[in-house]
Formats: sequence, C-alpha cells, structure tokens
Amino acid sequence: MSEVNFLKANWNLLDGFKSDQSKGIDHPDVQKPIDGTTSVIDLPAVQPGVIPDMSILEVINSRRSVRKFTDDPVSLEELSWLLWSTQGIQKVLGDGIATLRTVPSGGARHPFETYLLVNNVTDLEPGLYRYLPVDHSLAYLGGQIPPQKIISGCLGQTFCGECAVTFVWSVIPYRTEWRYGPVSHKIIAIDAGHLCQNLYLACTAAGLGTCGIGAYDQEEVDSLLEFDGETEFVVYIAPVGRGK
Ligand SMILES: Cc1cc2nc3c(=O)[nH]c(=O)nc-3n(C[C@H](O)[C@H](O)[C@H](O)COP(=O)(O)O)c2cc1C
Repeated sequence: MSEVNFLKANWNLLDGFKSDQSKGIDHPDVQKPIDGTTSVIDLPAVQPGVIPDMSILEVINSRRSVRKFTDDPVSLEELSWLLWSTQGIQKVLGDGIATLRTVPSGGARHPFETYLLVNNVTDLEPGLYRYLPVDHSLAYLGGQIPPQKIISGCLGQTFCGECAVTFVWSVIPYRTEWRYGPVSHKIIAIDAGHLCQNLYLACTAAGLGTCGIGAYDQEEVDSLLEFDGETEFVVYIAPVGRGK
C-alpha cells in the first residue's frame, strides 16, 4: 500500500480477514501492566471547582497553541484534570474487554498510554511517570529525563522541555489491530487527534497552555522512553505549562 493510502477507508481489506478477536484470542489489556515493585501515586479526584467556570464557547474560542511558558508549577489537581480529560475512564465494559473514556476511540480500543516528563508539578518529584487510567493514579517510573534530551528528541524545539510537564503519548497498535487488523492505522491516527484536542481544551479551561508536537525524531524519543518501536512507540507529544 502506498504511504498515503492508509488514510483511506480501506474496509474492503477486511473481506475474508480473520481478526485475532474473531479467532477467539483473548483481548489485550486496556492498560499496560505495572510490576509489583512500582510506586503508585493516587491522583486527586476531579471535582467541580478544580477549574474556573468557563463556558464551552469561551474555551473553544480561546484555544491556541502555546509555546512559551512561565516557571510556575502546575498543581497536582490540575494535572489530574488534564489526565482525566484526555484518557479518564468512565466505564469498564464486559470483563475488561474495553473502556469508555472522556475521549472517543474507534471500537473503544483506546490504544494509547500516557507518559509524563514531570519538571514542575506541585507535590510530585520531577521524574518519569505513566498514567494508570483504571485507578486514576500515576506510576513512578524513574528519575527525571534531562529536559535537554526531550528538546533534542523534538528537533530542538526548546519549549518541549522548558515547561512544567511534557505529555508523551505512546501507541500499542495491537489493541486496535486485535479487532481491526489492517485498517487499524487510520483509526489510531484519528484517535490521537481526539486525545490531544481534549488536552488543548482542558488546558484552556484551566488557564494552562499546550501545543501538539508532531515534529520529533522517532527513534530518539522511543529510545528515551525505552520503547521497542514495534509493539509500542511514541505517536504524539504535548508540553504543558502556564502560558506567558
Ligand atoms: C498533528 C500536529 C502536529 C503539530 N506539530 C507541531 C510541532 O511539532 N511544533 C509546533 O510548534 N507546533 C506544532 N503543531 C501546532 C500547529 O503548528 C498549530 O496548531 C498551528 O500553527 C495553528 O495554531 P493554533 O493551534 O494556535 O490554532 C502541531 C499541530 C498538530 C495538530
């Protein structure tokens, strides 16, 4: 298939195709597991009042990409709001086959994991974290990746490291391929747009700013986060902070 064709609706590719789901192969995990030694930090529940009262009209109308941030921290309550807005789980379906979240996803497959490069969030050690949407908590994965490394991975875009926290979304394509096989990749690309749009809107509503980052070195950023580049790899990045 030529490179652009994956963006087309190629549902004819499923004629005669047997997905792993239709073969009865067990569904993939809705969340990447953690091992028993990982420290887990509970996030504050998202309550009304965490963010100022702003109409959806105002939020949508004032959304902008923000590339300059102050040195002010993001609070844990604000981070919790951003994580819930982008990947928060509202309902687990069946035996855990799928989840309904604050963003849509083709077939409710939700193929993303959210990693955070925390520089300046109140009550959080700087470091690398992963969001655990099932329990709305954070897994602490290790010490801070030097901001210079993420800046280099983002082709020298300094604001990608000079921010309170950088969201790095990975994809586990098999979550979608398990059902949709060869037509999964258009769906995943569209899913990623929904995800980051909610981050934009959640930031705007909270008086924060972000910018979707598609220009990064795939291998460099994958290796920073120790992804194999096949079963899991980075699809989108978004630095967050208080806009200047
Ligand atoms: C998929 C995608 C990738 C993007 N990648 C970058 C990027 O690497 N660097 C950057 O500065 N802005 C990036 N942007 C932000 C766009 O440049 C921005 O949306 C555009 O200039 C319009 O500005 P607005 O978002 O304020 O409306 C990206 C936006 C999208 C949707």
